[in-house]
Amino acid sequence: MKQHSINPLDYRTPGHPINPIFLSRWSARAMSGEPIDHELLLRCFEAARWAPSASNCQERLFLYAHRDTPAFAQFFSLLAEGNQAWCHRAAVLIVALSDTLDAAGRPIRSHAFDTGLAVENLLLQACELGLVAHPMAGFSSERAISELNIPQRYLPQCMIAIGVPGDVNELSEFNQSRELPSQRKPMEEVTRASGFEPQN
Ligand SMILES: Cc1cc2nc3c(=O)[nH]c(=O)nc-3n(C[C@H](O)[C@H](O)[C@H](O)COP(=O)(O)O)c2cc1C
Repeated sequence: MKQHSINPLDYRTPGHPINPIFLSRWSARAMSGEPIDHELLLRCFEAARWAPSASNCQERLFLYAHRDTPAFAQFFSLLAEGNQAWCHRAAVLIVALSDTLDAAGRPIRSHAFDTGLAVENLLLQACELGLVAHPMAGFSSERAISELNIPQRYLPQCMIAIGVPGDVNELSEFNQSRELPSQRKPMEEVTRASGFEPQN
Protein backbone atom coordinates (compact mmCIF):
# COMPACT_ATOMS: atom_id res chain seq x y z
CA MET A 1 0.00 0.00 0.00
CA LYS A 2 1.13 3.55 -0.74
CA GLN A 3 2.63 5.30 2.29
CA HIS A 4 1.86 8.82 3.45
CA SER A 5 4.72 11.16 2.50
CA ILE A 6 4.91 12.30 6.14
CA ASN A 7 6.29 9.95 8.77
CA PRO A 8 5.14 11.07 12.24
CA LEU A 9 8.22 9.46 13.77
CA ASP A 10 10.25 12.25 12.12
CA TYR A 11 8.20 14.84 14.06
CA ARG A 12 7.43 13.22 17.40
CA THR A 13 9.83 12.38 20.22
CA PRO A 14 8.48 10.67 23.33
CA GLY A 15 9.74 11.80 26.72
CA HIS A 16 10.02 8.14 27.76
CA PRO A 17 10.37 4.98 25.67
CA ILE A 18 7.00 3.70 24.34
CA ASN A 19 5.77 1.44 21.58
CA PRO A 20 6.25 3.46 18.34
CA ILE A 21 2.66 2.71 17.24
CA PHE A 22 1.46 5.43 19.67
CA LEU A 23 3.54 8.02 17.81
CA SER A 24 2.85 6.64 14.33
CA ARG A 25 -0.91 6.98 14.70
CA TRP A 26 -1.99 10.41 13.63
CA SER A 27 -5.00 12.10 12.12
CA ALA A 28 -3.84 12.59 8.55
CA ARG A 29 -6.24 13.94 5.91
CA ALA A 30 -4.56 13.05 2.60
CA MET A 31 -6.30 9.99 1.16
CA SER A 32 -6.15 8.60 -2.38
CA GLY A 33 -9.83 7.89 -3.00
CA GLU A 34 -9.17 4.17 -3.55
CA PRO A 35 -11.47 1.60 -1.93
CA ILE A 36 -10.11 -0.91 0.59
CA ASP A 37 -10.78 -4.63 0.92
CA HIS A 38 -13.50 -5.43 3.43
CA GLU A 39 -11.02 -7.75 5.18
CA LEU A 40 -8.85 -4.73 6.11
CA LEU A 41 -11.87 -3.03 7.67
CA LEU A 42 -12.73 -6.21 9.55
CA ARG A 43 -9.22 -6.23 11.00
CA CYS A 44 -9.81 -2.71 12.36
CA PHE A 45 -13.17 -3.72 13.85
CA GLU A 46 -11.59 -6.85 15.29
CA ALA A 47 -9.11 -4.69 17.21
CA ALA A 48 -12.03 -2.58 18.47
CA ARG A 49 -13.88 -5.72 19.64
CA TRP A 50 -11.05 -6.55 22.03
CA ALA A 51 -11.08 -3.22 23.84
CA PRO A 52 -11.94 -3.28 27.55
CA SER A 53 -15.32 -2.00 28.78
CA ALA A 54 -17.04 -1.65 32.15
CA SER A 55 -18.42 -5.06 33.20
CA ASN A 56 -17.41 -6.21 29.71
CA CYS A 57 -20.69 -4.73 28.41
CA GLN A 58 -19.03 -3.98 25.02
CA GLU A 59 -21.57 -1.24 24.43
CA ARG A 60 -20.38 -0.03 21.02
CA LEU A 61 -21.71 -0.41 17.53
CA PHE A 62 -19.94 0.69 14.37
CA LEU A 63 -22.06 1.62 11.36
CA TYR A 64 -19.94 1.70 8.20
CA ALA A 65 -20.16 2.57 4.53
CA HIS A 66 -17.61 1.60 1.87
CA ARG A 67 -17.14 4.30 -0.77
CA ASP A 68 -18.58 2.12 -3.56
CA THR A 69 -21.93 1.67 -1.77
CA PRO A 70 -25.00 3.98 -1.75
CA ALA A 71 -24.67 4.42 2.03
CA PHE A 72 -21.38 6.32 1.54
CA ALA A 73 -23.09 9.44 0.17
CA GLN A 74 -25.56 9.31 3.06
CA PHE A 75 -22.78 9.07 5.66
CA PHE A 76 -20.75 11.74 3.83
CA SER A 77 -23.68 14.17 3.94
CA LEU A 78 -23.68 14.02 7.76
CA LEU A 79 -20.17 15.52 7.95
CA ALA A 80 -19.43 19.18 8.62
CA GLU A 81 -18.27 21.06 5.51
CA GLY A 82 -14.72 21.33 6.84
CA ASN A 83 -14.51 17.54 7.05
CA GLN A 84 -16.24 16.96 3.70
CA ALA A 85 -13.43 19.00 2.10
CA TRP A 86 -11.04 16.04 2.54
CA CYS A 87 -13.32 13.06 3.40
CA HIS A 88 -14.54 12.68 -0.19
CA ARG A 89 -11.40 10.60 -0.75
CA ALA A 90 -12.08 8.24 2.17
CA ALA A 91 -12.48 4.53 1.46
CA VAL A 92 -14.83 3.98 4.37
CA LEU A 93 -16.86 6.25 6.65
CA ILE A 94 -17.85 5.00 10.08
CA VAL A 95 -20.36 6.26 12.64
CA ALA A 96 -19.31 5.02 16.09
CA LEU A 97 -22.28 4.56 18.40
CA SER A 98 -22.35 3.85 22.11
CA ASP A 99 -25.15 1.78 23.56
CA THR A 100 -26.40 3.62 26.65
CA LEU A 101 -28.16 0.53 28.10
CA ASP A 102 -26.93 -2.88 29.21
CA ALA A 103 -28.56 -6.20 28.31
CA ALA A 104 -31.03 -5.76 31.19
CA GLY A 105 -32.00 -2.27 30.00
CA ARG A 106 -30.10 -0.46 32.78
CA PRO A 107 -28.17 2.75 31.95
CA ILE A 108 -24.40 2.32 31.53
CA ARG A 109 -22.55 5.32 32.96
CA SER A 110 -19.34 4.72 30.98
CA HIS A 111 -20.84 4.07 27.52
CA ALA A 112 -19.02 6.98 25.86
CA PHE A 113 -15.72 6.21 27.59
CA ASP A 114 -15.89 2.51 26.66
CA THR A 115 -16.66 3.36 23.04
CA GLY A 116 -13.69 5.75 23.01
CA LEU A 117 -11.40 2.93 24.09
CA ALA A 118 -12.69 0.78 21.24
CA VAL A 119 -12.21 3.61 18.76
CA GLU A 120 -8.58 4.03 19.80
CA ASN A 121 -7.98 0.29 19.25
CA LEU A 122 -9.52 0.67 15.79
CA LEU A 123 -7.32 3.69 14.98
CA LEU A 124 -4.14 1.95 16.11
CA GLN A 125 -4.94 -1.17 14.06
CA ALA A 126 -5.67 0.94 10.99
CA CYS A 127 -2.32 2.69 11.47
CA GLU A 128 -0.60 -0.69 11.76
CA LEU A 129 -2.17 -1.62 8.40
CA GLY A 130 -0.79 1.55 6.80
CA LEU A 131 -4.20 3.22 6.50
CA VAL A 132 -5.23 6.78 7.30
CA ALA A 133 -7.77 6.69 10.15
CA HIS A 134 -9.15 10.01 11.35
CA PRO A 135 -11.81 10.44 14.08
CA MET A 136 -14.25 13.36 13.75
CA ALA A 137 -16.74 15.10 16.02
CA GLY A 138 -17.63 17.46 13.15
CA PHE A 139 -20.86 15.86 11.98
CA SER A 140 -24.56 16.17 12.71
CA SER A 141 -25.45 13.73 15.45
CA GLU A 142 -29.15 14.67 15.16
CA ARG A 143 -29.22 13.96 11.42
CA ALA A 144 -27.30 10.71 11.92
CA ILE A 145 -29.95 9.58 14.40
CA SER A 146 -32.87 10.46 12.15
CA GLU A 147 -31.44 9.59 8.72
CA LEU A 148 -29.77 6.33 9.77
CA ASN A 149 -32.81 5.33 11.87
CA ILE A 150 -30.65 4.88 14.97
CA PRO A 151 -32.69 3.48 17.89
CA GLN A 152 -33.01 5.75 20.94
CA ARG A 153 -30.71 3.69 23.18
CA TYR A 154 -27.68 4.49 20.98
CA LEU A 155 -25.72 7.76 20.90
CA PRO A 156 -23.38 8.72 18.02
CA GLN A 157 -19.96 9.49 19.55
CA CYS A 158 -17.85 10.23 16.49
CA MET A 159 -17.39 9.50 12.82
CA ILE A 160 -14.16 8.02 11.46
CA ALA A 161 -12.68 8.34 7.99
CA ILE A 162 -10.50 5.46 6.85
CA GLY A 163 -8.55 5.50 3.61
CA VAL A 164 -5.48 4.70 1.61
CA PRO A 165 -2.80 7.39 2.15
CA GLY A 166 -2.85 9.96 -0.66
CA ASP A 167 -1.04 12.95 -2.09
CA VAL A 168 -0.82 15.92 0.29
CA ASN A 169 -0.80 18.31 -2.71
CA GLU A 170 -4.38 17.28 -3.52
CA LEU A 171 -5.64 18.72 -0.24
CA SER A 172 -6.89 22.32 -0.14
CA GLU A 173 -4.22 24.89 0.76
CA PHE A 174 -5.71 25.17 4.23
CA ASN A 175 -5.62 21.43 4.82
CA GLN A 176 -2.11 21.14 3.35
CA SER A 177 -0.97 23.61 6.00
CA ARG A 178 -2.57 21.41 8.69
CA GLU A 179 -1.14 18.12 7.42
CA LEU A 180 1.48 17.82 10.17
CA PRO A 181 1.70 15.43 13.12
CA SER A 182 0.64 17.22 16.30
CA GLN A 183 2.61 17.50 19.55
CA ARG A 184 1.55 16.91 23.16
CA LYS A 185 1.40 18.84 26.45
CA PRO A 186 4.30 18.13 28.81
CA MET A 187 3.94 15.29 31.30
CA GLU A 188 3.68 17.77 34.22
CA GLU A 189 0.48 19.22 32.75
CA VAL A 190 -1.33 15.90 32.44
CA THR A 191 -0.25 14.07 35.60
CA ARG A 192 -0.26 14.93 39.32
CA ALA A 193 1.40 12.93 42.08
CA SER A 194 -1.54 13.63 44.41
CA GLY A 195 -5.07 14.95 44.57
CA PHE A 196 -5.76 18.72 44.49
CA GLU A 197 -5.30 21.08 47.43
CA PRO A 198 -8.51 22.08 49.26
CA GLN A 199 -10.29 24.73 47.13
CA ASN A 200 -10.77 27.48 49.80
C1 LIG B 1 -13.38 12.92 19.45
C2 LIG B 1 -12.53 13.55 18.37
C3 LIG B 1 -13.10 14.41 17.47
C4 LIG B 1 -12.34 14.97 16.43
N1 LIG B 1 -12.96 15.73 15.48
C5 LIG B 1 -12.27 16.11 14.39
C6 LIG B 1 -12.94 16.75 13.30
O1 LIG B 1 -14.16 16.94 13.29
N2 LIG B 1 -12.20 17.12 12.23
C7 LIG B 1 -10.86 16.90 12.17
O2 LIG B 1 -10.25 17.25 11.16
N3 LIG B 1 -10.20 16.28 13.18
C8 LIG B 1 -10.86 15.87 14.28
N4 LIG B 1 -10.22 15.19 15.29
C9 LIG B 1 -8.78 14.93 15.22
C10 LIG B 1 -8.02 15.75 16.26
O3 LIG B 1 -7.91 17.08 15.84
C11 LIG B 1 -6.64 15.09 16.50
O4 LIG B 1 -6.83 13.81 17.05
C12 LIG B 1 -5.76 15.91 17.43
O5 LIG B 1 -5.43 17.16 16.84
C13 LIG B 1 -4.47 15.18 17.76
O6 LIG B 1 -3.76 14.88 16.58
P1 LIG B 1 -3.41 13.40 16.13
O7 LIG B 1 -4.68 12.58 16.11
O8 LIG B 1 -2.85 13.57 14.74
O9 LIG B 1 -2.42 12.83 17.08
C14 LIG B 1 -10.95 14.66 16.34
C15 LIG B 1 -10.38 13.79 17.29
C16 LIG B 1 -11.14 13.24 18.28
C17 LIG B 1 -10.50 12.28 19.26
